[in-house]
Amino acid sequence: METKNGSSFSGQIGFVLAAAGSAVGVGNLWRFPYLAAKDGGGLFLLVYLILILTFGFTLLTSDIAIGRKTKKSAIFAYEIMREKWRFLGILTFFVPVLIMTYYAVIGGWITKYFIVFITGQGRLAASDGYFTQFITSAQAPVFFSMFFMILTAFIVYNGVESGIEKCSKIVMPILLVMIVAIAVYSLTLTHTDGQGHLRTGIEGLQFYLTPNLEGLTLSQFMQVLLDAMSQLFFSLSVSMGIMITYGSYVKDDVDLNQAVGQIEVFDTLVAFLAGMMIIPSIYVFSGMEGMGSGPSLMFISLPKVFDAMGPIGTIVGIVFFLMAAFAALTSCISVLESIVANCMELFHTTRKKTTVFLSLFYCAASVVIALGYSLFYVEIPLPTGNTGQFLDVMDYISNSFMMPIISLLSCILIGWIVKPQWIIDEMEKSGHRFGRKKLYTVMIRYIAPVMMFILFLESTGLLERILE
Ligand code: PHE
Repeated sequence: METKNGSSFSGQIGFVLAAAGSAVGVGNLWRFPYLAAKDGGGLFLLVYLILILTFGFTLLTSDIAIGRKTKKSAIFAYEIMREKWRFLGILTFFVPVLIMTYYAVIGGWITKYFIVFITGQGRLAASDGYFTQFITSAQAPVFFSMFFMILTAFIVYNGVESGIEKCSKIVMPILLVMIVAIAVYSLTLTHTDGQGHLRTGIEGLQFYLTPNLEGLTLSQFMQVLLDAMSQLFFSLSVSMGIMITYGSYVKDDVDLNQAVGQIEVFDTLVAFLAGMMIIPSIYVFSGMEGMGSGPSLMFISLPKVFDAMGPIGTIVGIVFFLMAAFAALTSCISVLESIVANCMELFHTTRKKTTVFLSLFYCAASVVIALGYSLFYVEIPLPTGNTGQFLDVMDYISNSFMMPIISLLSCILIGWIVKPQWIIDEMEKSGHRFGRKKLYTVMIRYIAPVMMFILFLESTGLLERILE
């Protein structure tokens, strides 16, 4: 069968690297290590590993198989599955539409820090208040987010094979080498603090790998489970239509089983290495109290750690922020691509026109979000009890609210309406064996929907209220 608009990945490697590029993003770098440190080290790792092989595998397989079978992006893919379920496609389409408003802003922050380190000003980035001063300024964040947006647009404009695939094939292997290098280096660190205590990177590694079961209660274990689940879900870029779009570009002779496995391995490996790089570094220089999550980890804690490393810290900082920029870029590309692909199908427009139009729109949107810390500063209360700026609100709606619902509904659609055999047929089409077939069926019909429902209750703050 012809692939959509004649666009396709050249083969399995191109697809796997592009999909891994989408999966490996800032979540792997700033959220996974934080959760691992918070949720009992090895315990979290173990739970995560089990979930990725069962739950993650089910969701990823579904998205990719839907894409390849229908050769369409989310809106039309769901419509082909069941006409009445087009609404689910539309809902799915809106996840990247929202994420795109802020992802280039984050990419811009990373670019700025890369520039700061490569121009030898790493010291400055380690000073108190530097990050706040940067994001609350009305020029630099706007400039850098536009730069990142235009770079993303340029690659998407060049198409699936000569844009996305080519970029992923260059960037992803380099990313892997860089993260391995910093992870290994961080194991060699030692530091004696003010009270004369010597701390080593190896001790940090032990903290990371050893399952900490001390005084573990059932409700804490549930929290670990939920944390791992929501992380994995975001990390694999599932339930947002991205993997459906990428799946639609996969040729029919590619072994999807193997490809799914490789994407899982790549994403998990990078997350694991991120922990191996960040946890020992933070442990050595500031103790585990210094372990934050999200932007504060990347832009406040880590620059201080790089500074404490001495002159070599500049090099580590350069490598780290370049790697982070690569991770963000390939994710950002996948978000834009899925919006472009849906719009091309909806409006029958060319890739080039659609990309230009959407990029202009998102340049404007990024400006608004980037100015959400200065000109357009607001404090909007979120159901989780915190308040947030524009970026947090977009993030909350797309990830905490929409994704679990979409996932729940698509499990119901596949498990009970079109039936799992529909996916299994696609997985076996190329004559390859679908080894985890039984597991898939049980997961998609019974376990995943229940898990998604609980996750939805948790991320909207409803679970806490029910349990009160
Ligand atoms: N999966 C990426 C991560 O782990 C993030 C991402 C989110 C990518 C949304 C694409 C779309 O950070």
